[in-house]
Amino acid sequence: MPSLNSPPEFPGRLPPGYQYRPEAVKFDPEKHLQLEPPETKVQLRELGYQASEINQCPTSFAVSSAARILSDEGVGIMLDIARSLKQYSVNCERIENMVRGGVYQSRFLRDFCLSQEVVDFLGDIFGTPVAPHTMPLHLGHLNYAPDDLSRAVDKWHHDTLGLDYVLLLSDPTQLQGGDFQYFMGTRHEAQELAERGQMIPADRAVSPEFPGAGYAIVLHGNMVVHRATKLTERAERITLVNGYVPLNTEIADVCRFQDLSLVDPHHVLFTEWARHKAWLSVGKLQNMIADIPFTDDKQIITAHLKDAIAEIETAIEDINDEADASMIHYGD
Ligand SMILES: [Fe+2]
Repeated sequence: MPSLNSPPEFPGRLPPGYQYRPEAVKFDPEKHLQLEPPETKVQLRELGYQASEINQCPTSFAVSSAARILSDEGVGIMLDIARSLKQYSVNCERIENMVRGGVYQSRFLRDFCLSQEVVDFLGDIFGTPVAPHTMPLHLGHLNYAPDDLSRAVDKWHHDTLGLDYVLLLSDPTQLQGGDFQYFMGTRHEAQELAERGQMIPADRAVSPEFPGAGYAIVLHGNMVVHRATKLTERAERITLVNGYVPLNTEIADVCRFQDLSLVDPHHVLFTEWARHKAWLSVGKLQNMIADIPFTDDKQIITAHLKDAIAEIETAIEDINDEADASMIHYGD
């Protein structure tokens, strides 16, 4: 049984420039959730990953069929919130319209994204204990259809975090195109295809069916290459992506800072990154305190200490890195 970190805490204060809007309805799991497990799950080995790669991951799970998360009432409220937050949307190389940091503006969105009922539900699907992501920028991320219909809703990519879901807030029967798809292959294959200037073959792109609004595809986001295709007719298409961290402290952190530094306000990102890496280090320090052997071997003691603070050193390097950042993706 691996050592587990305690779940991270949501920050006790808001970043400058953010405030909670008045909201008539408070999130109520009884009314707003409708948790129904997925019928099928795909494993990383089925995508072609080797045991040596899977062993580095918190779980061998890759991607699920649609799981129901929000009730009809929950979808209605969340759609209203997403529509009102759209005024804060930003764009990046991959996505034309997205809102991040909404959990600092809507208490309903925040409480839904932190919901323990959903955490327990997802822990069963992922097959490993998880908690809502340490970084609120990775909670309740909202994607909106592009104004430019020639653009993919989101290009082929893997996520900058490990575990998440993509929840459809819009009614799929009203959408032409805009399919969520995942690649039945590995990241390395996607990369090789992109380097050769080739597209991901259509017969290896899976489009899981969304039976309705409120359903989500649960995803090992940094291992499964996925995208959302172009809309062929203009329509409202809104998805919500919520991130999770594994509580297993022995797993290497897969969160990427560089991509985020291109899209997120630095006064929020730097602090969240420091908190995230500090949380990882707290878990490692606790393990070290429990496990460090009695020895006069300085190298052994030093190695334990260095390992425990390595994440903090990475955070210091990242936030002081002045090199040009780039975003990883594999095209349309
Ligand atoms: Fe993604």
